[in-house]
Amino acid sequence: MRHFLQIDDFDANALHARLALAQSFLSNDDVPQIQGDNRLVGKVIINAFFENSTRTRTTFELAARHLGAMVVNLDIARSSTAKGETLADTVQNLEAMGAHALVVRHHVSGAPHFIAKCCPHISIVNAGDGQHAHPTQAMLDMLTILRHSNKDFADLKVAIVGDIKHSRVARSDTSALLALGCGDIRLIAPPTLMAKGLANDKVRAFYDLSGIDGVDIVIALRVQNERIDSPVLAGSAAYYRDFGLSLAQIKQRAPDAWVMHPGPINRGVEIQSALADDERALILRQVRYGVASRMAVLAHCLGAV
Ligand code: NCD
Repeated sequence: MRHFLQIDDFDANALHARLALAQSFLSNDDVPQIQGDNRLVGKVIINAFFENSTRTRTTFELAARHLGAMVVNLDIARSSTAKGETLADTVQNLEAMGAHALVVRHHVSGAPHFIAKCCPHISIVNAGDGQHAHPTQAMLDMLTILRHSNKDFADLKVAIVGDIKHSRVARSDTSALLALGCGDIRLIAPPTLMAKGLANDKVRAFYDLSGIDGVDIVIALRVQNERIDSPVLAGSAAYYRDFGLSLAQIKQRAPDAWVMHPGPINRGVEIQSALADDERALILRQVRYGVASRMAVLAHCLGAV
C-alpha cells in the first residue's frame, strides 16, 4: 500500500507490521531513544501542511531525517496557493520536483484522498484532514498502548473523552482499536459534542464521566477553543466541572488507567494540570512514539521495509 490515508484501509496484520517496525526504532530504555538507519537515503519527502501543527509536522520531519530522507517543509503562507493556484496544481508541481512522498495536513476532510488522485505516482500520507482522519496519530496512540498496557487489545477497555464530534483523532483511534480487536470503547462527551453514527456493540456513547469507570486507558481530547464559548457549551468552567479529567477522578474511577492526550492540551479545561504532569499521563511519551510511528509509516509507504 503506497498511501497512508486512513486506518480503515488496513487490516490488523498491516497495522501490527507497522507497529512492530516502529518498536524496532525504539530502544527499550525507560526513556526510549530513536535508533534510525539509512533506508530512505535518496528519497524526497515534502511536508505540505495547509493547517497549523507543532507536534505532527516536527515529528514527521524528524522521522524522515532519522531514516536519511531529504525533507522540505512547504511554507504554505508564502506558496502559490496564496496567489490563487489550485490545490491540484500546487501538489502536481511538488510531484514534478521529484518528491517521493507528500505528508499532507489540510482543514478540508478528504483533501489527502483528492491529492492522491492528482499525484498517482507518489505516496500521500495523511497528517490530519478536517474532522475525518488522523491515521498516524492513531498509530502512535496504538504504539503507546502497546508499550504501556500489559493487556491484549481484545481485553482492553478504552475511554475517549471530549469533543468527539469534531475529532479526527477520536475517529481514527476508534478505527484502529476496532481493527486490533478491542471490544470495549467508550466515547464520552456532552450531547452537543457527541458524534452520530459511531456507536455499535463495541463502541458505546456516554454523557458523563461514569464512562471511565474501570477502564485501562483514558484518551482526553482537546476542546477546541474556538467552540468553548459558543452556545453548544456553557463555557470552560462548566465543561471542566462536568468533563474535565482530574487526578482525583482517575484515582477514584479508573485507578489503573493510563491517561493519554494527542496535544495540544488545555490545562484546566479538559485536563487538570496535576493529572497532565502525573506519572500516569503518557502525553510526552506519545510525542516521542510519534517519531517512531511516523518512521514506520514512511518506510512502508516508500517500500523500504
Ligand atoms: C490533534 C489534531 O491536530 O488533530 N493534534 C495533533 O495532531 N497532535 C488534535 C487537536 O488538535 O486537538
